[in-house]
Amino acid sequence: MKKDRRRRAREAALQILYQWDVGRGDVNRAVETFFGHQWPDAQPAPDEVRTFASGLARDTVARLDAIDAVVAETAQNWRPERMAVLDRLILRMAVCEMMRDPDTPPAVVINEALELARTFSTEEAVKFINGMLDAIRKKIADCDGLVSLLTDKIDGPLLDAAPKLKVVSNFAVGFNNVDIPAATERGVAVGNTPGVLTDATADMAMVLLLAASRRLVESVDDAKEGRWKTWEPVGWLGQDLAGRTIGIVGMGRIGFAVAKRCRFGWNMNVLYSDVYQSQPAETELGAKKVDLKTLLKESDFVSIHTDLNAETKGMFNTDLFKQMKKTAIFINTARGPLVDQKALATALRDGTIFAAGLDVTDPEPLPADHELYQLPNCVIAPHIASATVHTRNEMARICAENLIAGVTGGKLTALVNPDVEGKRRR
Ligand code: DGY
Repeated sequence: MKKDRRRRAREAALQILYQWDVGRGDVNRAVETFFGHQWPDAQPAPDEVRTFASGLARDTVARLDAIDAVVAETAQNWRPERMAVLDRLILRMAVCEMMRDPDTPPAVVINEALELARTFSTEEAVKFINGMLDAIRKKIADCDGLVSLLTDKIDGPLLDAAPKLKVVSNFAVGFNNVDIPAATERGVAVGNTPGVLTDATADMAMVLLLAASRRLVESVDDAKEGRWKTWEPVGWLGQDLAGRTIGIVGMGRIGFAVAKRCRFGWNMNVLYSDVYQSQPAETELGAKKVDLKTLLKESDFVSIHTDLNAETKGMFNTDLFKQMKKTAIFINTARGPLVDQKALATALRDGTIFAAGLDVTDPEPLPADHELYQLPNCVIAPHIASATVHTRNEMARICAENLIAGVTGGKLTALVNPDVEGKRRR
C-alpha cells in the first residue's frame, strides 16, 4: 500500500470518526461508567495511531471539507469494500486511543484486520497491520470479557485468540454477528440487550412507515430546493394508514409493538407470518396468522422483524416484491441482509411497490453513491432505531451487567446461549 494512500485512508477514517464519536459519546460514557475502570492496564497504542488520534483534537470544519474531497478521491481509487474495512480498522484504533479505554475497541477489530490482510495482497499492506495486530492479540489474549457492537464479527478464530475469555457482551439485541455455537463450544457466555429497545425500534418502524407513506423526505427536499411552486392538487400524493392492513413478518417483541401501534393508532387489521403462533397478538390485537404469500398479497404495509440467519438471508427478493401490492410500503428495521437490495431498488424504480423505509442496509454504512439513495421513494436512516438517550443507556446497563456477570461467573441479565451453562470458563 502506498504511503499516500495510507494517509488518505486515515483522513477518510478521521471524517467518519468525527461523526461516529458525536453520535456515540453518550453511550460510550454510559458504558464506561459501568466498567471502564475494570479493564487491566493495556499496551500503549502504536505511534501512528496516537499521531492520528491527536489530529482529532485539532479538527476543524474546514479540515472536514478538505477531507470530504479526499474521501471522494480515495473512493475512486479503492474498491469500496477495501475502503470500508480499512476505515473501520483505523477508526476503532483511533476511538480506542481517544477514549483511553484501550481494550474494548481493538479487541474486536482483530477480525477486520485479518480480513484486511486477506483483501490486500501486497506485503506492505500486511506489514501495515501487523504492528497493530500484535498489540491487539496481546490485549485480547488477556481479556476475560469482551464488549462487541453489532458490526463486530465474533467468530471461532477471534475467540481462539482469547483463551481466557469468559463472556462476549453484545451491545445489541440482535446477535447475528456472533457465532453462538463457536462461543458455546468454548465455554464463552454471550449476552445481548433484549426488551429495552422494543419501543424505540417500533417507533422507528412507524417513523419510516409514515415518512414513506406520505413521501415526507421527498416533499421536504422539494420544498427546500425550490420545487414547491404552488399547492398542488395531485402533487406528492401518498398512502393513507387508517383502517388498512399491516403485515408483520416475525411476530416477536418488536413485531408485536409495531402491530400494536398500527392496531390502536390507526385501526389497522394485522396479519402476521411466523413459525410460532402468537396468542397475545391474536387475543389483544385481533391479529391473524397467515402464510407469507397471503401476507404479501393482502398487506398495505409489510414490516419485517425476523432474525437474520442462513435461511432468512436475502429472503426479500424479486419474487417476494412481485407478490406485494403496487401500493405497498416495505419497512425494514431488522437487518439489512434480509433484503436483496438490487431487487428492492428495481421494485421501487419500476413501481412494483410504492415505497420503502429502511433503518438497516447491507453494508452499513451504505456508501453515499448507492443506488437506493437516488430513489425518492426510498427513505433510509443510518441504523438509528434504538438511538434514544434512554434506550441506549438501558442497553449500556444490560451490556455492563452481562459483562460483569460473565466475568465474575454470575447469572447474565440476558444470556443468548443457555447451553453454555455447566461448561462456562471460570
Ligand atoms: C439491535 O440491538 O440489534 C439493534 O439493531 C440496534 O439498533
